[in-house]
Amino acid sequence: MNAPRRLLPEPTDRLVFREMTENDLDAMADMLGDPEVMTFFPAPKTRDESAEWITRMQQRYREHGHGLWVIETHDGDFVGDCGLTWQSVNDTPVLEVGYHVRRAMQRQGYATEAARACVELVAREFAPTLLTAIIHPANDPSRRVAENLGMTHIDDDRAHPWIVRTVMGMQVAPR
Ligand SMILES: CC(C)(COP(=O)(O)OP(=O)(O)OC[C@H]1O[C@@H](n2cnc3c(N)ncnc32)[C@H](O)[C@@H]1OP(=O)(O)O)[C@@H](O)C(=O)NCCC(=O)NCCS
Repeated sequence: MNAPRRLLPEPTDRLVFREMTENDLDAMADMLGDPEVMTFFPAPKTRDESAEWITRMQQRYREHGHGLWVIETHDGDFVGDCGLTWQSVNDTPVLEVGYHVRRAMQRQGYATEAARACVELVAREFAPTLLTAIIHPANDPSRRVAENLGMTHIDDDRAHPWIVRTVMGMQVAPR
């Protein structure tokens, strides 16, 4: 099988996207190891788990052409990650936009700005399609980002018997 074309969202007013590399381990481990950033995940990630996260993203780039990308300012300051991954909702595959912003950079509109650039990429490359954001029911900031994109609550994922996740979504039309 041919390797898929590697995709990347367009730069925004304040942000650029690029693929994650091993050189991002310090910044990724700081962010994914921060208990506040990881409030709605099972636990903060260890440095080894953050390294695995980077490896997994690199595998996604190779297999699908996309994944979560590093987002940084035009001056190269690390902001977080944002991008597109295949997920499963009630055992059906869906495209998801995901985002993490390091604590010092939160509440400045970065997640919304980055996620909008991902929606544009979806419109160019995948539309018409459903785009989702799968969110812990108590994660208000994440839900606000999804609402800023125009998403509404479309489903609840019950694939895990003891975890319910809110599925926000919208249909993206070709541009
Ligand atoms: C979710 C997250 C990426 C948002 O990043 P951000 O850059 O701060 O988001 P924005 O600045 O674009 O803000 C989006 C909205 O959320 C609101 N918001 C952000 N942080 C908030 C907080 N701690 N409490 C309440 N609202 C908050 C903002 O006010 C904004 O609302 P508005 O558009 O109505 O003004 C960030 O909080 C984060 O990294 N959280 C931890 C990781 C995570 O849970 N990711 C999502 C997994 S599904």
